[in-house]
Amino acid sequence: MTGWLAGKRALIVGAGSGIGRATVDAFLAEGAQVAALDHDSDKCAALRQQLPDTPVIEGDATTRDANDEAVRVAVDVFGGLDTLVNCVGIFDFYRGVQDIPVERIDEAFDEMFRINVLSHIHSVKAAVPALMAEDGASIVLTESTSSFYPGRGGMLYVSSKFAVRGLLTALAHELAPRIRVNGVAPGGTLNTDLRGLDSLDLGTRRLDAAPNRARDLAARTPLGVALSGDDHAWSYVFLASQRSRGITGETIHPDGGFGLGATRPTSA
Ligand SMILES: NC(=O)c1ccc[n+]([C@@H]2O[C@H](COP(=O)([O-])OP(=O)(O)OC[C@H]3O[C@@H](n4cnc5c(N)ncnc54)[C@H](O)[C@@H]3O)[C@@H](O)[C@H]2O)c1
Repeated sequence: MTGWLAGKRALIVGAGSGIGRATVDAFLAEGAQVAALDHDSDKCAALRQQLPDTPVIEGDATTRDANDEAVRVAVDVFGGLDTLVNCVGIFDFYRGVQDIPVERIDEAFDEMFRINVLSHIHSVKAAVPALMAEDGASIVLTESTSSFYPGRGGMLYVSSKFAVRGLLTALAHELAPRIRVNGVAPGGTLNTDLRGLDSLDLGTRRLDAAPNRARDLAARTPLGVALSGDDHAWSYVFLASQRSRGITGETIHPDGGFGLGATRPTSA
C-alpha cells in the first residue's frame, strides 16, 4: 500500500520514540507531511538529524503553550493541518490501591492524568480550529488494552486509559461531522521507551526492559504475536486516511486478540 495519506498534513505528539516514532515513519511513507512534538531533547535532536524535512517542536505536551506552538509551526510550514495523532503516555508498573502510600496518591494521580489525559486534551484543543478548516480532518488518540480491561496496568494507568476512551467518545460526538475522532488500543508493545511515574520513583524504569518481554507478550495472546510500534503504526495510517471516512468514535485493537480471553491450552 502506498499513498494512503497523500496530501495529508499531520502533527504527531509524542513522536520521539516507540509507537509515535514508528507512526512518523509510516505517515511519511504513505505520503503525509508530518510535524513532531516531543519533550525529550535527545529524541528531538535524533528526529531532526534523521528527518531533516520534518519540523520538530520540543515542548511539554501537557501544556497549552507547547501544543499551540506545534500547531502554529505545522500550519505555517504546511499551509494547514488535517490530522492530529497523540502518542504521549506514561506507565505505573501495575501499582494497585494497596501499593501506593496515601501521601503519594495526589501527586501520582496528577502526574498520570496530566500526561495520559491532559496532554491529549491540550493537543486537541490546540488543533481543532485548524482541523475544522479542512475537509477530511481526523484525530487519532492512543488508548491501550488498559482502556478496556484490568490487569495490564495498575489503578492509575487503567483509569487514565479508560479516560482516554471516554475522551475520544465525547470528542467524536462533539466534533462530527467536521472531524473524525478514533483511537488505537495497542497491547503490550516491543521497542518503546515507555517509562514509569516520577512521583512513584519509577521514572527511570522502562517497561520494555522487562526480561523475556517478547516471549511473555506472545504467550499472552491467542495470535501468539509480540507486536512493535511498526505494527501499530498502520492502524493510525488507516484511521487518518480517507479509507476510514465513515468511521468515528471507534477503536482499533492491535493486541494479538487479547480481548478474546486466555490463550488455548496446548494440551487437553
Ligand atoms: N509500550 C506499551 O506496551 C504500550 C501498550 C499500550 C499502549 N501504549 C501507549 O502508547 C503510547 C506510546 O507509548 P510508547 O510505548 O510508544 O512509549 P514511548 O515512551 O516510547 O513514547 C511516548 C513518547 O511521548 C513522549 N512524551 C512523554 N511525555 C511527554 C510530554 N509531557 N510532552 C511531550 N512528549 C512526551 C516521550 O518522550 C516519548 O517519545 C502511550 O500512550 C502508551 O500508554 C503503550
